[in-house]
Amino acid sequence: TRDAAGLEKIILKEPLGASAEVYLYGGQVVSWKNDRGEELLFLSSKTSFKPPKPIRGGIPICFPQFANVGALEKHGFARNRLWSIETDAPPILSSTNASGSNSSRGSTVDLILKPAEDDLKMWTHNFELRMRLTLKRGGDLAQTIRVRNTDTKPFTFTFALHTYFSVSDISEVRIEGLETLDFLDNLQDRERFTEQGDSITFDGEVDRVYVSTPTKIAIVDHEKKRTIVVKKEGLPDAVVWNPWDKKAKAMADFGDDEYLHMVCVEPAVIETPITLKPGEEWKGRQEISVVPSSYCSGQ
Ligand code: BG6
Repeated sequence: TRDAAGLEKIILKEPLGASAEVYLYGGQVVSWKNDRGEELLFLSSKTSFKPPKPIRGGIPICFPQFANVGALEKHGFARNRLWSIETDAPPILSSTNASGSNSSRGSTVDLILKPAEDDLKMWTHNFELRMRLTLKRGGDLAQTIRVRNTDTKPFTFTFALHTYFSVSDISEVRIEGLETLDFLDNLQDRERFTEQGDSITFDGEVDRVYVSTPTKIAIVDHEKKRTIVVKKEGLPDAVVWNPWDKKAKAMADFGDDEYLHMVCVEPAVIETPITLKPGEEWKGRQEISVVPSSYCSGQ
């Protein structure tokens, strides 16, 4: 289907009521609803949906770099390129049952991005970037990312699933699973600190790369009485971002007060970039689910 601006999107629906929407533009998920029809992702009301601007919200895919290092554009170019549907995607080989979406019931779409000629001028490496998106029968959303080196030389990249979650009120939100870990503070030249608190709460701008994080992170939303659980594989780091009021005002595609209702928790590979030799493939995965807030995230 196409939206009002003519961008093509795919809608996954499950019989129990859950749904997800993904644009070919950016391979970007923009909506994920549970079986009660509640939207769990944040999408800015100010986003333009006009290429080449990336879509503000949902799950932008940052590749071949997170942040802005060197001449390459910030967060890479995958988020503002047109991906394609891949009907004959190669199977995902995995060591654990939980990793394969073939075996679990649900709706799936496979998307792929290959570099265009112009992209190869900026980043001189041939690659195939794949995303398999699966909406499971119970409503959990799984994304498996694969990067294959189809070049004749090795290449190195960083990556993030820049997930924007919708929350009731940022001051009532707690992130669990990152306590006592080291983080690089993007607000202080990536200086390294160690998290001291019990869990992360918000009363100002936060922009941090937590390193070597556990496979499970919980976003506890008191007011909505729900917890979103992020499970990840192959994505050791996790960015936590809320722009707060000043930065919100400075972003043209973000409402002045929208920072109150979102938080980004982004499974990523940043501190130790991935290097792939010709023919090699890397795989990363996140699965997000929502549970009532009496749930204890226990690591
Ligand atoms: C976060 C970064 O992941 O993305 C922030 O840590 C950045 O520093 C934010 O501001 C949004 O980036 P962009 O390019 O989508 O405005």
